[in-house]
This record gives sequence, C-alpha cells and structure tokens, in this order.
Amino acid sequence: MFTRYRDIVPVARDSVAFSSESGGDREGGGTMIEDLPRSVGVGSVINMMDDPRHRALRRLVAPGITHARIAALEPVLADAARSAVDQAVRRGHGDLVSDIAAELPLLAIASLLGIPPQDRHQIFAWINAVLDYADRQLGETSQTSAQAMQQFMAYGHRFVEARRQAPGEDVISLAVTGELNDGLGRLSAVEQLMVFNVVMVAGLETTRNAIAGGVRAFIQHPEQWTRLQNQRSLIDPALEEILRWTSPTPYNRRTATRDVEIGGRLIRRGEKVTLWWASANRDEAIFEQPFAFDIGRPANPHLAFGSGGHGCLGAQLSRLEMRVVLNALLERVEGFDLAGDTEWVRSNKHTGIRRMPVRYSEASSQSARHGAVTGATEGRF
Ligand code: HEM
Repeated sequence: MFTRYRDIVPVARDSVAFSSESGGDREGGGTMIEDLPRSVGVGSVINMMDDPRHRALRRLVAPGITHARIAALEPVLADAARSAVDQAVRRGHGDLVSDIAAELPLLAIASLLGIPPQDRHQIFAWINAVLDYADRQLGETSQTSAQAMQQFMAYGHRFVEARRQAPGEDVISLAVTGELNDGLGRLSAVEQLMVFNVVMVAGLETTRNAIAGGVRAFIQHPEQWTRLQNQRSLIDPALEEILRWTSPTPYNRRTATRDVEIGGRLIRRGEKVTLWWASANRDEAIFEQPFAFDIGRPANPHLAFGSGGHGCLGAQLSRLEMRVVLNALLERVEGFDLAGDTEWVRSNKHTGIRRMPVRYSEASSQSARHGAVTGATEGRF
C-alpha cells in the first residue's frame, strides 16, 4: 500500500514499471468491470490496459470528451440541477442521493453518449442493481446483480451496433469507426463494448458520491457554506476541496513488471501495489491542516482523479456536474441538516453514500441574487 503522496505520484507516472494490465486494476471489488470474466476485463478496458494500446485508445476517444463538447452540456445540466434542487427544497427534506446527486451524472453521461432519454432510467436501474453491495456478501455476485449485468451488457452491445450503422461524433462512434495510431489497427468488438461500459460506469457512482459527499461536508462545516454563499468566486476551489475531501475513488492498483525501489522499499516483479489517492489527499507533507475542510485552500494538488497516463478522462465533466449542482443549491438553500442516518455503501472501491436524508432551509431571495458563476463564462470548469 502506498499511502504517501510523494511515493504514489512516481508509481502512477511509471506505467512501464507498474502495469495496469498485468493482473488488472482490482479483483473481487464487486463492480461491473471486475464482475466480468477476467479474460474479458483485463487488457480490454482502458483502465486495465498498458501502453502503447492504452495511449492510442485514449487518443482515439479523447475528441468525444473535449472541452467544447462538455461545455455544450452545461445548459441542459444546469436546468436539470435547478429543477432537481427546486423540487427537493419545495418538499423541504428528502434523500439527497436519489433526489439530486444521482440524477446529474446519469443525465451527463447519457447526454454525452447520446443515449435516448427513454432508456436512461432502465440503464440506471441495471447499474444500481449491479453495484448494490447491500444485496450480497463481500466477494460474491448476487443473482439480481448478475442478471442486471447481463441486461446492461446486452444493451451496450445493441448501442455499439447502432453506432456502427449510424456513427456520430460521440466517444462510442469514435471507438467503433476509428483506427488506433501507430498501426495498432481497430478496436476489437469486446474493446468497443468496454468503452461503452467504462464510460457509463466510471462516471456515475464517482460523481454521485462527490456530490453527496460534498453536501455532507458542507452540512458538517456550515461556516464553509456561508463563506461560499458570501463569496461565490470560491466555487472552483470549493469543487477541488470537495474532491480532495471525499476522494470518491479511494485507490487503484498496479502490478510491478520489474524489481523497483520506492520510498526505501523494494517492490518485487509481479507484486501488486495499491495507490491510495484518499490517503495522499490527507498527506500533511502536501496539505496544510489536511483534516480541515477549507474551500479557500490556495493550492490544492489533490489526486482524486489519479495521476499520470491513466488520469481520469472524465475530470472536466464531473467538475461541471458538481458546479451546476452547487450553483443550484446556492441559489435556493440557506443551509441544510442531516435528517437521519447516512447510509454508506459497503465497498473499498467507492467512498459511496447510498442514502442521506437531508432537511433544507430555503434561501431568501436576497442571498440568491449573487447569481451563479458558470464555467462557460470563465472559460473553464
Ligand atoms: C468525481 C468523479 C470521478 C472520480 C473521483 C474519478 C476518479 C478516477 C481515477 C482515480 C482514475 C485513475 C484510475 C487509475 O489510475 O487506475 C480515473 C480514471 C478514469 N476515469 Fe474517472 N473519475 C470520476 C469521473 C469520471 C467520469 C465522469 C468519467 C467519464 C466520462 C470517467 C472516466 C474515467 C476513465 C475512462 C478512466 C480511465 C482512464 C485511463 O485508464 O486512461 N471518470 N478516474
């Protein structure tokens, strides 16, 4: 286990000595990708591939997740966030996860991929069933979750096929029609399906947990909410602090391809190492007062999105989602309280919140007048 920032970064950056493919990212983690037969997952999924194929695949799909494509989603996502927050605040209380935090990531990914609106909730139900850790013992796959997995994969298969027939400019179309650089040919049918799978799954639970965990942090540190209400320009540093604080993906894994010394310890060829982003994000050598939730940190080089060649492809999209939700909450909510126990997801793969009952107190129109700060107008997210 690498837990220090200064040990984690060089390991994450050295994808030759530390492979994501050999042995895969995780085992028995109980997520959709790890629930696949190992022969399908490892080496076919972007986060479990090594260069040069990994780098070529990133280059192939990157034009589907450009800044401009993400910026174009902002009005739709901002509307959805306002309407979800409006309904929740009118009710006065409710489960923040299902009312607000779960909706946005689903809409964002579905819009990015061009998934028809009528299919979205079905897909979400499948993904929830697959990820339902309450329904199983650790390391097991329940029947419900196995069935949902099959149905989700079958849908993905049909979706990929439809893109092959009528390609657009989205990530999946690029994956099915494009050629990899450096004479590496086309993606196999399994690799194409895995692009669909990983984009759908990687962005849903992580961002949901960042949003729910962020609201929880503000509930526990109400002075930071007041500070943000009074100084909306802190929204960007606030997003970064939420990411640092929640660390929705606590760790990823690599396998050493040769003997290598890190931080005075010899890692032998074939040994597996885990990179604890969540721990690096609380490293006192890097962050002053790491256990303080402080939205005004002048520098915040957190590793919530990883580091190096496998760094998160969806970072800008999730920042946008978090931003529109925060803006919508700032417009309507003076403060919040927990209205019951928070239920956590039993997982070491996600810092996940399943349910979080929240009571809202409505903002007066005066505090709403500051207006939202948008990424588009500032040219960044
Ligand atoms: C707050 C939300 C998110 C968090 C905390 C997060 C975290 C991470 C981390 C830590 C990695 C590095 C994995 C490694 O080094 O092995 C990663 C990779 C990745 N993420 Fe995210 N992610 C988030 C949102 C998203 C979204 C919205 C998408 C999809 C659009 C996405 C797609 C990916 C993909 C495809 C990779 C693999 C990249 C590669 O292996 O080259 N993520 N993410």
